[in-house]
Amino acid sequence: MTPAAVAPPDWERIRADFPVLRREIDGRPIVYLDSANTSQKPEPVIEAMASFMREGYAPINRSAYRLAAAATDAYEGARAKVARFINAARPEEVVFTRNATEALNMVAQSWSRANLHAGDAVVLSHMEHHANIVPWQMLASEMGIELRFIPLTDDGLLDLSGLPELLDGARVLSVTAMSNVLGTINPVERLVAAGRAAGCMVMIDACQSVPHGITDVQAWGADFVAFSGHKMLGPSGIGVLWGSSEQLDLLPPFLGGGNMIDDVRLDGFTCAPVPAKFEAGTPAIVEAVGLGAAVDYLESIGMANVRQHEMSLTRYAIDSLRSRYGDDVVIHGTDNVEQRGGVLSIAFRDIHPHDLSQVLDESNVCVRAGHHCAKPLMRLLGANATVRASLYVYNDRSDVDALVEGLDGASDIFGL
Ligand code: ALA
Repeated sequence: MTPAAVAPPDWERIRADFPVLRREIDGRPIVYLDSANTSQKPEPVIEAMASFMREGYAPINRSAYRLAAAATDAYEGARAKVARFINAARPEEVVFTRNATEALNMVAQSWSRANLHAGDAVVLSHMEHHANIVPWQMLASEMGIELRFIPLTDDGLLDLSGLPELLDGARVLSVTAMSNVLGTINPVERLVAAGRAAGCMVMIDACQSVPHGITDVQAWGADFVAFSGHKMLGPSGIGVLWGSSEQLDLLPPFLGGGNMIDDVRLDGFTCAPVPAKFEAGTPAIVEAVGLGAAVDYLESIGMANVRQHEMSLTRYAIDSLRSRYGDDVVIHGTDNVEQRGGVLSIAFRDIHPHDLSQVLDESNVCVRAGHHCAKPLMRLLGANATVRASLYVYNDRSDVDALVEGLDGASDIFGL
């Protein structure tokens, strides 16, 4: 996730590609700092979806007329783009889901029902999003499996000192590649190697990492990787489950219905090959086209450039907040931008995060306040909520400056 320096693209031009950022509310521009929640969409993605709906929309995989064949090609073309983007060995290893949550649930439910028994252990970490905790808790109560959690260091990294003991006898290791609260970038290859050596099925929640850096699922070597389209400049309603061909072949289907069968008789059915086996019903066709366009767009910038841009902005944000506010601002996680992405969860003086986000909104500074769907981590941090500013390709230093000035405004309002 930390590539060598490369020639910078024209970030101003990139920012201009996002129409919502040209909008004003109450005569002021929008400062969008909520991309860990969901990202904005550039013109090429909007246009690809609109023109497909205007001129190319048809069912896929079902009808033989040319309009439908072209729509099928567009859908499968998007799959091929996503596969190339994450360096999958074959497009068939990319399964389109509704979102990353569905992808994680699909594996937790289907894989576990086929492979786990009462008493088996599943290893997660203390920094997981609810989407990589709750599905396992649902299974734990139903199947009697044990959940273990990798603890964190004081600066918000995974504490891997006890990993061999945690993995001892475990059957599953499922961890995030990057924390949506702390920004921590985890050592995925090391985790996968440790999980595999212990005989675990290894799944990576790559929701926060795929949009922000180079992803190479073959180098990672996990069994499954899940991520969503809407955080990587694509539309909502589409996510990805990547699985090794071997695992996807063995994985039982999650939803039954049309498209996922080879044959159905009154006494049973046989499955279609992967990936159709996991794509029951009419899928998100337009959204797949949009996700393919998002991949094209990100590739035109270069993921190494994306990562460099965010490292530099994150450094600027940490330094700006610290130099202006010193100990009055707490920035959770490590200060080392080599080990973190552009996600800054902060506490500021004694102002409640929800109040702070409301004051920031008055200057059109859009941040998320809350538990960020990671309540166990928030408890560990000793906070009910934080204000979280998160960065992406369309942000620049002026956005960080607006955040810092917004905190000034909040201090004035709350008399602090
Ligand atoms: N997981 C998303 C977030 O962190 C929803 O905001």
